[in-house]
Amino acid sequence: MRHLIDIRDLGRAELDALLERAEDIISAPKEYSDSCRGKTLATLFYEPSTRTRLSFEAAMYELGGNVLGFASADSSSVSKGETIADTVRVVSEYCDVIAMRHPKEGAPLVASRHATVPVINAGDGGHNHPTQTLTDLLTVKREKGKVGSLTVGFCGDLKFGRTVHSLINALSLYEDIKLVLVSPEELRLPGYTYKDVILKNGMESEMTTSLQEVIGELDVLYMTRVQKERFFNEEDYMRLRDSYILTPQLLARAKPDLCVMHPLPRVNEISQEVDSDPRAAYFRQAANGKHVRKALILKLLEEAAR
Ligand code: NCD
Repeated sequence: MRHLIDIRDLGRAELDALLERAEDIISAPKEYSDSCRGKTLATLFYEPSTRTRLSFEAAMYELGGNVLGFASADSSSVSKGETIADTVRVVSEYCDVIAMRHPKEGAPLVASRHATVPVINAGDGGHNHPTQTLTDLLTVKREKGKVGSLTVGFCGDLKFGRTVHSLINALSLYEDIKLVLVSPEELRLPGYTYKDVILKNGMESEMTTSLQEVIGELDVLYMTRVQKERFFNEEDYMRLRDSYILTPQLLARAKPDLCVMHPLPRVNEISQEVDSDPRAAYFRQAANGKHVRKALILKLLEEAAR
């Protein structure tokens, strides 16, 4: 059974094929409106979500399929003490594919070992978020016309930001990417991304605490929210949360064709005045998420049927 737990579960050719299919879906959505007729997606969300869960659900409805699930741990039997293993064993009988978000790192992996249908990791703690990465790659491709040969800046909470970890992993498969890592010292990338991905793959990278000094070099700027829910104390969060705020003044120093991304939700890190700048791609990015999730659901269901 094929699952998507870590973005590295997909090879470069498979990533490119998913992006291509998503673009095909965008250009001819009606041709896909029946492709999941009779199939059901279960969304098991043990942690809050807006875009990820709703885009999965919208994707499945637009493919002609059905959706069931829950949006918080307290509305499921986990609040009575049920294990993930038992939950997915049972839910596998009610659906054809599962999308799971969980605050504990590794929970979707555990689920995949007990499920009899494909499991998609929709975010596990501060670890990984592979379907956001598909969204991000599609956005880079559509905004910049390519994924390779780019200088990509990541700014904010690189320690707990799971979307950052997964996207850097995926970018390691593309040629000629330079990474510029902008964060407070306390929120630098974890070793499992910095050492095991960037250094191991010989990716070019630069680390700094100043966005202002490097913004002019970037082709893509990936802003992130400081991940309040992963902090051990409120004081540290309060001190770090406004480390970076992208304003029109700061953006004036950037290239005219910079692509500004953010997985959303944003709190303070991009001022609302930036939204009307044509370089602000984050709402287009969120829209891309629905289409690339359609491509993923189709791929996993096709493989499960073989
Ligand atoms: C991200 C997440 O959940 O990791 N949001 C999302 O899925 N679009 C980023 C975040 O919560 O900051």
